[in-house]
Amino acid sequence: MEGKCFGSLMMLLVFSPVVLAQSEGLQIGFYSSSCPQAEPIVKSTVQAHFSADPSIAPGLLRLHFHDCFVQGCDGSVLIAGTSTERSALPNLGLRGFDVIDDAKAQLEASCPGVVSCADILALAARDAVDLSGSPSWNVPTGRRDGRVSSSSGVSSLPSPLDSIAIQRQKFVAKGLDDHDLVTLVGAHTIGQTDCLFFRYRLYNFTTTGNADPSITQSFLTQLRALCPNNGNGSKRVALDIDSQMDFDVNFFKNVRDGKGILESDQRLYGDSNTRRIVDNYAGNIRGLLGVRFNFEFPKAMVKMSSTEVKTGNQGEIRRVCSKLN
Ligand code: HEM
Ligand SMILES: *[C@@H]1O[C@H](CO)[C@@H](O)[C@H](O)[C@H]1NC(C)=O
Ligand SMILES: *[C@@H]1O[C@H](CO)[C@@H](O)[C@H](O)[C@H]1NC(C)=O
Repeated sequence: MEGKCFGSLMMLLVFSPVVLAQSEGLQIGFYSSSCPQAEPIVKSTVQAHFSADPSIAPGLLRLHFHDCFVQGCDGSVLIAGTSTERSALPNLGLRGFDVIDDAKAQLEASCPGVVSCADILALAARDAVDLSGSPSWNVPTGRRDGRVSSSSGVSSLPSPLDSIAIQRQKFVAKGLDDHDLVTLVGAHTIGQTDCLFFRYRLYNFTTTGNADPSITQSFLTQLRALCPNNGNGSKRVALDIDSQMDFDVNFFKNVRDGKGILESDQRLYGDSNTRRIVDNYAGNIRGLLGVRFNFEFPKAMVKMSSTEVKTGNQGEIRRVCSKLN
C-alpha cells in the first residue's frame, strides 16, 4: 500500500493489511531469512516491465490463475514443450512468461536454488494488481515447483462458454465458492480479449439470426462496430469497457447493465446467487463499494493462490522456470 494516497476515513478503516498468517502450509515472509530480497526483486521486475507495457499487469494476473487451476499453483504452466499445459489451446494467449524468467534470473543470481517459480507467479500477480490501482496484500509463500505439466490437464480451466453451473463446479473443485468465483472473475476489470471469444454472441447467437439477448441494445451496436462479423478475430477488446486500466468495480457495473463481454461474465447476472454478489460490488454508492471489492479480492486471491500447493520437500525449486531441473 505504500506510495499510495488514500483520503477518506472509510478507506483507513478498511485497508488494514490482510492478516493471514498461514494458509495450506504456506507462510507470509517465507523467504525473509533465506532470501530477503525475494519480494523486492519480483516487485521491481514487474514494475520495470509494467513501465514499458502496462498491459503486462493483466497478463501476469491471468498467468497465475491458469497456473493454479491446473495441478495447483506449482509453476506447471511455465514449462515449455509440445505437450505441456503451456502448449494447450486455452493457454496460447497467456502473456508475461518473460517477466517471470527475468525475475527468476535475478533471484538465481542473488539466492540460487531458493525461490520457486510458483511463488514468483503468485507475487507477480499481486504486484501487477497493486500497480493497476488496487491495494496490495501479503502473499503467503513457500510453494514448491511441480514436476508434471501436461496439456491434458487444462480441462479444469473454465471456458468463456461455460454456464454458471459449470463455472461453479470448476471453482468448487478448487475449494472456491460463489463468492470467490464472482470476486475472482472481477479480475476482468483489467485486460483484454480477442473478438473471437465473444463475437458469436453478436451475430446469429440463437441460430435465428439474433444476438445474445442479455446484451444491452446500445452496447450491441458498439460491440458489432468493434468486431465485425467477418473481421479480424484477433482484434483485442477491453473486458471492462471504458475502464480497462483500473482495478475498480466498473466491471461489475457493466455486467449489471448488460455490458459484459464474455458470455461467462454476463452469465454471472443470470443466476440469483451470483447476481446478488455482482449487485453488491456494483452498488450505487460511489467509492464505498469499490472499497469492498478491493478488500474481498485479496482474500479470494490468497485462497486461490493456495490451491493444491506443494510444500516442504515435495516437488523442486526450478533453476529455470520454463524447464524441469
Ligand atoms: C469463469 C472463469 C473465467 C473465464 C471463463 C475466463 C476467461 C477468459 C478469457 C476467454 C479471456 C480472454 C483471453 C484472450 O483473449 O487472450 C480472459 C482474460 C483474462 N482473465 Fe479470465 N476467465 C475467468 C476467470 C478469471 C480469473 C479467476 C482471473 C484471475 C484471478 C482471470 C484473469 C483474467 C485477466 C487478467 C485477463 C486479461 C488478460 C490479458 O489482457 O492478457 N480470469 N479470461
Ligand atoms: C444462423 O445459423 C443457422 C444455423 O447455423 C443458419 O442456418 C442460418 O442461416 C444463420 N443465419 C444467419 C443470418 O446467418
Ligand atoms: C488482426 O489483429 C491483430 C491484433 O490487433 C494484429 O496483430 C493482426 O496483424 C491483424 N491481422 C490482420 C490480417 O489484419
